[in-house]
Amino acid sequence: MNRLLRRLSPALLLCASQAWAQAAAPLPYQSTDQSLGTVNCANSLCHGSITPWHESPVLRNEYVTWSRLDKHARAYRVLHNERSRTIVRNLGLPTPAHETKLCLDCHAHNVPEAQRGERFNLSDGVTCEACHGPAERWIQSHVEPGASHAGNLDRGLYPTSDADSRAKLCLSCHWGNQDKLVNHRLMGAGHPRMSFELETFTAIAPAHFRVDADYLARKPAVDGVKVWAIGQALAVQEMMDLLVDPKRGRDGLFPELVLFDCHACHHPMSQAKWQPRGQFGAHAGPGTVRLNDSGMLMLRAVAREVDPALGLRVGRQVSRLHLAVAGQGDAIAEARALKRLAAEVALRIDTHAFSAASPGHIALALVDEGLAGGYADYAGAEQAAMAIGSVVDHMHKRGLAAPAGALNAALERLNAALADDEAYRPAQFQQRLREMRALLVAK
Ligand code: HEC
Ligand code: HEC
Ligand code: HEC
Ligand code: HEC
Repeated sequence: MNRLLRRLSPALLLCASQAWAQAAAPLPYQSTDQSLGTVNCANSLCHGSITPWHESPVLRNEYVTWSRLDKHARAYRVLHNERSRTIVRNLGLPTPAHETKLCLDCHAHNVPEAQRGERFNLSDGVTCEACHGPAERWIQSHVEPGASHAGNLDRGLYPTSDADSRAKLCLSCHWGNQDKLVNHRLMGAGHPRMSFELETFTAIAPAHFRVDADYLARKPAVDGVKVWAIGQALAVQEMMDLLVDPKRGRDGLFPELVLFDCHACHHPMSQAKWQPRGQFGAHAGPGTVRLNDSGMLMLRAVAREVDPALGLRVGRQVSRLHLAVAGQGDAIAEARALKRLAAEVALRIDTHAFSAASPGHIALALVDEGLAGGYADYAGAEQAAMAIGSVVDHMHKRGLAAPAGALNAALERLNAALADDEAYRPAQFQQRLREMRALLVAK
């Protein structure tokens, strides 16, 4: 965000400065503090209680939730499984997965040797400190009487309760960043396809925290719609960074294929399914490889809600990028322009007061995008379904949506249409969207 902030007016800078100060916190693996190890958090009087405490501001059973239910706790262990062995063999790597930096960077808290405390254990996987930051400077003080959240942050606690920072953290492993990357070679070798949507993933990760009155007295509430929206804006920025990077964004004669719609290439030739993709007002024509624009579709829907003119600008810029990638323009320049625009959208989201009606508008806009033919590609439909799910859940919790039973059934049918990416039929998905629309406008 640095570069963008320098381009903005002082007034905007001022209102964005708080969010920026937090967004600028180093990611946990980038910090130079010592990581002490999960055992330090696991004591039954700390975060290792079997059941939640009632007289404590935090649940105290975080460790038990994490170690028993959270996939992050087994992220290292999967590096020993058959699939990992296959990936490593196919890539011709010289070391097994659990000794390979590439894998460990995302499947563990892989900080340099010098920053590992005595009780640090790499095999603990994606640990408390991998998300909350190395504990060296806050382990003592965060439990002292009078400890404050701001004080903890000053001592290196990572601001997971800030929407930007949380998005940056999760995306660093679930999409990759300048240091970590799941590229097409890794997928070709057998790594699962990454599909991430911040709010959905926050919701499905077994929660070890509760946003209640006491929480709100200590930290700002993170509005679910905002987390989702900022997650989309950041994902588009990360994607553009990758596209313009001469090292990461290329593979021999080809651009990095992970940036493109997987199903643009991976479908049988007999399945002639080409049709104009008009969702951004321009398409490059048959026989071209399309960028995966699912995040951009979401970004446009959010931008529209914040400011219709901003939505139009996003749509136009994505069109230009699509055309440029297919040879009609300067792809690098257009990618840079889209990155700047996505950063601008993120700032606008940060300071925008979404109204009670906003989630409804966004859900309806996403549905209508699909009815207008916007989700001809699986990846777009998948992002849209996750987003509609998050937004509808948010509305439901606030009593703004149709009865839960009907909505859940409609959501399930929407997701069922996506169960097999290779058998995806856009017309069927549209039919499910029509059912969803009827429920959304009924309220
Ligand atoms: C940029 C981060 C990143 C890198 C690099 C990475 N992974 Fe992963 N890996 C993930 C994430 C995130 C998932 C979970 C995907 C999901 O479920 O959405 C995953 C899932 C997996 C799975 C499936 C897990 C399961 O529960 O079955 C295996 C196996 C795996 N990775 C092995 C590897 C190996 C081996 C390497 C190194 C060659 C590697 N990964 C490199 C982030 C990464
Ligand atoms: C994958 C990332 C991740 C991991 C791993 C993780 N957390 Fe969290 N944790 C979060 C997020 C996100 C929140 C919610 C935002 C916030 O309050 O900061 C949170 C919140 C918390 C809270 C605050 C609850 C409150 O009411 O203020 C505590 C305490 C906590 N985690 C402890 C732990 C402990 C202990 C571990 C390890 C056993 C752990 N976390 C592992 C991401 C993680
Ligand atoms: C250090 C890297 C890292 C960070 C940071 C991280 N994750 Fe993960 N996450 C992983 C890996 C690796 C897996 C796959 C583990 C497995 O399948 O065994 C995973 C799995 C998950 C899963 C389970 C997915 C499934 O298929 O069931 C969810 C949900 C998830 N992460 C959410 C989050 C959220 C939300 C955040 C941010 C608060 C986050 N993660 C931060 C590495 C990370
Ligand atoms: C530009 C076309 C193109 C795009 C886009 C593309 N791939 Fe590929 N993919 C290929 C080619 C070519 C191969 C190599 C096939 C071979 O070796 O027979 C391949 C191989 C693979 C393989 C190994 C298949 C095998 O037979 O072992 C997997 C898995 C894979 N890709 C997944 C993906 C995913 C996931 C995406 C989207 C993120 C994607 N691909 C995007 C062209 C593409």
